[in-house]
Amino acid sequence: MENKTLLTETELFVRSIMNGDSSGHDWWHIHRVRTLAMVIARTEGADLFLVELAALLHDIDDWKLNGNKDERNKVSDWLTKCGAGQQLTGKICGIIDGVSFKGAGVDTSTSDLECKVLQDADRLDAMGAIGIARTFAYGGSRGRGIYDPAIQPVMHTDFENYKKSTAPTINHFYEKLLLLKDQMQTKTGSAYASQRHEFMLLYLDRFYAEWNGLYS
Ligand code: NI
Repeated sequence: MENKTLLTETELFVRSIMNGDSSGHDWWHIHRVRTLAMVIARTEGADLFLVELAALLHDIDDWKLNGNKDERNKVSDWLTKCGAGQQLTGKICGIIDGVSFKGAGVDTSTSDLECKVLQDADRLDAMGAIGIARTFAYGGSRGRGIYDPAIQPVMHTDFENYKKSTAPTINHFYEKLLLLKDQMQTKTGSAYASQRHEFMLLYLDRFYAEWNGLYS
């Protein structure tokens, strides 16, 4: 299959799997991550085909969407079915494997440029106005409350405990979203992240002010 056809077929495949999700991991998340990843890839000189293909497939095996099971078969099954060959399949699976955030104290830095680009794009979509919308959507899908002043944020140092967390959604800002700015892997990603980070800080200020009865 030619690269262009593989991308088109993969987009259709991913849309069919992710349509209708309401946890913030729907098709439009993939669409935004692909757009951001392509912008970063062009500036950073990464391989555009690898970045686009990995961006399209990056969440279909995600633990958040598979009932916390770490499944890694849908990506390789799909690429094998398309006749992508072992080398390309291995490369894409490797990129995707390095993308996911696994807890505040878990090191997920990488030396692979395509992985750096995709990791930054995926994390940027967890920041700013979109990130705020997604994090509350995800919290709601998991039955989490919005905020409880009595429950303090936890800096998870292992992936298992991070996955099991049932804390209110506001805690997620401190356990993940506000940490992302300093974990960007590319210069382009860092520049985008600073602005999105500032917006989240503004949002939290306003949230606590309203919580305490201000801005009535
Ligand atoms: Ni994602």
